[in-house]
Amino acid sequence: MDDTDVGADLEKILVSQDQIHDKIVELAAEIDRDYAGRDLLLVGVLKGALMVMADLSRALHSPVTMDWMAVSSYGSGTKSSGVVRILKDLDGDISGKHVLVVEDIIDSGLTLSWLLLNLRSRGPASVDVFALLRKPEAAQVPVGVRYVGFDIPSEFVVGYGLDYGERYRNLPFVGTLAPHVYGA
Ligand code: IMP
Ligand code: MG
Repeated sequence: MDDTDVGADLEKILVSQDQIHDKIVELAAEIDRDYAGRDLLLVGVLKGALMVMADLSRALHSPVTMDWMAVSSYGSGTKSSGVVRILKDLDGDISGKHVLVVEDIIDSGLTLSWLLLNLRSRGPASVDVFALLRKPEAAQVPVGVRYVGFDIPSEFVVGYGLDYGERYRNLPFVGTLAPHVYGA
C-alpha cells in the first residue's frame, strides 16, 4: 500500500520510506557495535512495532532473539493514562538477558515508563529502548530512550505500523491524515 492507495485521506508524508530505511540501517550499525559479543533479545511492543521490528532485526548483523508483548494503556480519550494492562506477556524469561525494547512511537512516555519498571523487575542484565519516533512531550518524561529514529511534532501520525482505528498500519511511510478522516 502507498500514498496512491489512500488518496485524499493522506494529508502529508512526514517521514518517507527511504528516510526510515536509512535511519534504521544507521541505528542498526550502532546497535551492532554497542552489543558486540553479547546476546541481544529484541522485545517488540505489539502491534505498532511490527514494521520496525521486521526491518531493524534484518538490518542487524548480530544474531538476535525476539519476543513480543502487547499492552494497552486505558483511560479516557486518546491520551494514555499510564495505567497499563498486559494483553500478551513475553513467552520467555528475561533474567540475565540484554533486552532492547522496540517501540514505534513515544508520545507521553507513560506506557514506556510502566513497561520499563515491569521489565526491570524481572532481573534482566540490561534494558534499553529503541523508538522509531518520538514526540516532544516524551522528552519531558525521564524515560531513557537510547536509540531514537526521528523527533516529530506533536501530531497524530499513521503508517509503518501506526494506526488510526486499526487502519493505515500497512503504509510504508509515516504521515498525517486529512481532517475529514477524523470526521471533521
Ligand atoms: P504514550 O504512553 O503516550 O507514550 O503512548 C504510546 C503509544 O500510543 C504508542 O506506542 C502508540 O501505540 C500510541 N500512539 C501514540 N501516538 C500515536 C500516533 O501519533 N499515532 C498512532 N499511535 C500513537
Ligand atoms: Mg506502541
